[in-house]
Amino acid sequence: MDQDMLKRQAAEAALQYVEGGVIGVGTGSTVNHFIDFLATVKSRIEGAVSSSEASSERLKQHGIPVLDLNAVGDLALYVDGADESNRELSLIKGGGGALTREKIVAAASERFVCIADESKLVDVLGAFPLPVEVIPMARSLVARHLVKLGGTPVWREGYVTDNGNLILDVQGLQIRAPMQLEQQINDLAGVVTCGIFALRGADVLVLGSERGPLTHQKG
Ligand code: A5P
Repeated sequence: MDQDMLKRQAAEAALQYVEGGVIGVGTGSTVNHFIDFLATVKSRIEGAVSSSEASSERLKQHGIPVLDLNAVGDLALYVDGADESNRELSLIKGGGGALTREKIVAAASERFVCIADESKLVDVLGAFPLPVEVIPMARSLVARHLVKLGGTPVWREGYVTDNGNLILDVQGLQIRAPMQLEQQINDLAGVVTCGIFALRGADVLVLGSERGPLTHQKG
């Protein structure tokens, strides 16, 4: 099975967590499959809170109402992909640049179900460059701090987030203490947020695999 089929398999398996109400929906190619499956049960849900303009567009194309988080309060379920997950279900996210809105919707949700193909499961986070969203005027300042933390930041040139900010992709990190590093990077002046999701990681990880969907629960 190719990687896209494994993503699709994980997305379909996540449908079992949909019990109705308003669903938090993330961003990326795996979530695109999830949105397509969600459309098959759309009569059972009230709508979705989306983490990106791209996902909002896809939800609307399926006739699923896109709701404002401020109007709906806390969510029972958030479904999103990841660029990497370790076995504690701490994640790297933001390959698609939607990390800040993803972190907001994750924080507003009782249960975070992460969907991915099995290649995303790693022992140590960091082989995937860590995205950091920064306010434009702080780009160089933040980059210098990230070098002091042991990384090599690369400006994602030509890319602007849905919030009008920039992304630095930090290479060369071996993230053995994800919670501490998440806090440390988030505390830098000019950082909106970083793509480590450890303080609020996933509760359930559903991985598409050749043996069928594999589910990991937070310990
Ligand atoms: C988007 O900003 C990311 O956090 C995605 O969730 C992540 O990049 C996973 O994307 P794919 O599902 O396309 O692999």
